[in-house]
Amino acid sequence: MLRFADFELDRGAYELRRGGQVVHLERIPLDLLFLLAERRSQLVARDEIVERIWGKGGSQDSDASIEAEVRKIRRALGDDANAPRFIVTVPAKGYRFMGDVREEPPATNPRPGQTPAVEAIRDRSEQPARHGEARLAGELDAPSTVSQLEDDGRQPVAGDLAQGRFIGRAEEMAALRAAIDAALGGQASLVMVAGEPGIGKTRLAEEAGAYARHRGAHVLVGRCYEGESASPYSAFVEVIREYISSRPDDALKTEMGDGASDIAKLVPEIRERIPDLPPSPPADPNGERLRLFNGVASFLVNASKANPIMLHLDDLHWADKPSLLLLQHLARRMKGSRLMLVGAYRDVELDRRHPLSAVLGELRRERLYQRVLLRGLTESEVKELFEAILQQKLEGPGAAFVRAVLRETEGNPFFIEEVLRHLVESGHCIDARAAG
Ligand SMILES: Nc1ncnc2c1ncn2[C@@H]1O[C@H](COP(=O)(O)OP(=O)(O)OP(=O)(O)O)[C@@H](O)[C@H]1O
Ligand SMILES: [Mg+2]
Repeated sequence: MLRFADFELDRGAYELRRGGQVVHLERIPLDLLFLLAERRSQLVARDEIVERIWGKGGSQDSDASIEAEVRKIRRALGDDANAPRFIVTVPAKGYRFMGDVREEPPATNPRPGQTPAVEAIRDRSEQPARHGEARLAGELDAPSTVSQLEDDGRQPVAGDLAQGRFIGRAEEMAALRAAIDAALGGQASLVMVAGEPGIGKTRLAEEAGAYARHRGAHVLVGRCYEGESASPYSAFVEVIREYISSRPDDALKTEMGDGASDIAKLVPEIRERIPDLPPSPPADPNGERLRLFNGVASFLVNASKANPIMLHLDDLHWADKPSLLLLQHLARRMKGSRLMLVGAYRDVELDRRHPLSAVLGELRRERLYQRVLLRGLTESEVKELFEAILQQKLEGPGAAFVRAVLRETEGNPFFIEEVLRHLVESGHCIDARAAG
């Protein structure tokens, strides 16, 4: 974990925090911030940034792309390009991180609901490795990639290293890739990834996001949260916030058009970005909601003209009803645009009365979405997962051990990681050849 001023950059959770609160930053600027902070006080050249962040092919207009990402970082850190506290531009060369960065052991308690073994193991990799753990730690430091990008011979972006290798899911990825390709060509699409908790919905959507980003799309993530503290429209608010942080004011003004006053009800800072917005005229609640829906839909459709956009809306089983109606409205309105929606939800949480069930029913009738259902990993995939982590072939008793884990976990990657974590923590790991 890296600390500077009142910020923390946490490699395990892969996030930036300020005073303990997560500061939202998209994947690419976060990758770049890690890169700069890790190389603190050294110049990191533009070429190296392009190669490390976008891979060997680079981005089309690399200078403008780097600048756009640096702007996002500065905004997140409250930094000023003219009087920098953290990120210094070295003209025509690159960037340098200034300020006092301290390397500290990571916090011990992982985020609730997010305890993948790799995080625990990665944390351990910073301590002296005991027998067997070195192999795991080694795997995590080795350059693993978003596997779908391996095909292209690209270098992994720094953020991909935080997760282990992506296993299997070839058919599901093919469906997502096809939908992304179609959206890039102006055939918007909606794919819903469904499955039980821990089966890999978020991960699959992230892999799809990496592919979409690689193809030049802007990937925006919005989540829904459980319980009463969850605020309405949270996923859309996150997505819009993330998007507007990357756009200049005049572009926002054009893309939002007449809808800006309505969208500003969801995201009040829009009024700071586009001053002198008229108040939206009073209407009955239904009229107001319709105006909001139209405003958001036209905005996203317009925005995707400048650059294709993939929205990853996660944990939709927790979405409030108005968010789901907005999603439905968007799915109807986005035809012919370069928008791609990937939703994820736990199918086991839905019963007939759940608002998502009704929305999915409507969308199905109108043939507006495609479903990708995730099941457990197969025996050979579980084996592959273990072999990737252990960096060794599993045979004989090792293979029997894999079968035992498969029986226990039904191929659920989250539970598999939990088993591994338990083995590491209890000191039994990681010589799985002996474990059978
Ligand atoms: N195909 C895969 N290859 C390797 N690791 C995977 C794969 N799928 C999921 N994982 C890992 O398993 C863990 C659980 O996956 P993920 O968080 O995507 O599950 P989920 O279905 O979104 O769960 P939830 O319903 O709780 O949100 C993560 O650490 C993820 O990286
Ligand atoms: Mg998830």
